[in-house]
Amino acid sequence: MGLLSDQICVVTGAGQGLGRAIALEMSREGATLALIERNEATLAEVAAEISAGGGRSTQHGLDVTDYEAFARAIDDVHARHGRIDVLVNNAAINPSTKSILDDTLEEWRRTIGINLEAVYVGSKLVAKVMTAQRSGRIIHISSIQGFASSGLCGSYNAAKGALIAYTKSMAVELAPFDILVNAVAPGFMVTPMSIVNGVDETATPEFVDWYIDRRKIPLGRSGLPEDVAGTVVFLASNYCRYMTGQLLVVDGGLTSTF
Ligand SMILES: NC(=O)c1ccc[n+]([C@@H]2O[C@H](COP(=O)([O-])OP(=O)(O)OC[C@H]3O[C@@H](n4cnc5c(N)ncnc54)[C@H](O)[C@@H]3O)[C@@H](O)[C@H]2O)c1
Repeated sequence: MGLLSDQICVVTGAGQGLGRAIALEMSREGATLALIERNEATLAEVAAEISAGGGRSTQHGLDVTDYEAFARAIDDVHARHGRIDVLVNNAAINPSTKSILDDTLEEWRRTIGINLEAVYVGSKLVAKVMTAQRSGRIIHISSIQGFASSGLCGSYNAAKGALIAYTKSMAVELAPFDILVNAVAPGFMVTPMSIVNGVDETATPEFVDWYIDRRKIPLGRSGLPEDVAGTVVFLASNYCRYMTGQLLVVDGGLTSTF
C-alpha cells in the first residue's frame, strides 16, 4: 500500500522539472495521475515513464490559460474516475530578465495569467468536485520568491506571493468541506527553469562560490525535483490531515540565514 493508493491526482505542468518528479513520486505511491501539460512531447514521455513503472495516468495536452480546455480536462478526469482527490498547481513560467523599469504590461499579464489566474481557475474547477465529495487536497507550488526577491522577476514574485495569501484564503473557505489547501515554496532547484539564456543559474562560478562553497544555502547544494516531490506527497497524504493554509519552505535553509 502506497501513501496515495487509489488517489486521483491532477498535476499541471507535469512534463518536466518539479511537475514530472511530483507526478512520478505520486505514481510510485499508488496514485492514478491526470497529467496536464502544454508540451505534448514531454507529456507523452512522463506518461510512458509512469506506465513503465507500473503506474496509471491520463494525458491532457493543453495550456492552462485555455480555460475551456482546462475545464474539459477536469470534467474528463471526474467522469472517468468519479472523483478527484488532489490538484497540484505547478505549471508556471519565469521570464525574469527585466525590472519594473523596462518590462511591459503585456509581459506582466502573461506571467500573472499562467502563474496566478490559471491557478484560480483550476482550483475553482476541482473545488466543485471536491466540495460535492467533501474531501480533497489542493497544493500550490509557490516559491521563496513569493516572500523574498533576487530582483528582475516582479510579475513572477507577485504571482508567487499572491499564491501564499490565496492558500490561506482558500484553506479557510474550503475547510468546511474537508478540503485542505497548502503551498510549497521551493528555493533554488535544478530544473529546466533554472536555465536562463542557455546558462544553468545553479552552476555558474558566482552561484557555486556564494551559495554552495560559502554555504549561503546551509545544506550546501541546490535542490533536486525529488526534494520537493516528497513534500508534495506528504501534503497529499493522510499523514497531513490537521494542517491547512500553510506554506512549507523547501530551500536547503537558504531563507533561514542571512
Ligand atoms: N526551478 C526553480 O528553481 C523553482 C524555484 C521555486 C519555485 N519553482 C516553481 O516550481 C514549479 C515548477 O517549476 P520547474 O522549475 O519545474 O519549471 P519548468 O519550466 O522546468 O517546468 C514547468 C512545466 O510547466 C509547463 N507549463 C508552463 N506553462 C504552462 C501552461 N501555460 N500550460 C501548461 N503547462 C505549462 C512547462 O511546459 C513545463 O513542462 C513552478 O511553479 C515554479 O514557479 C521553481
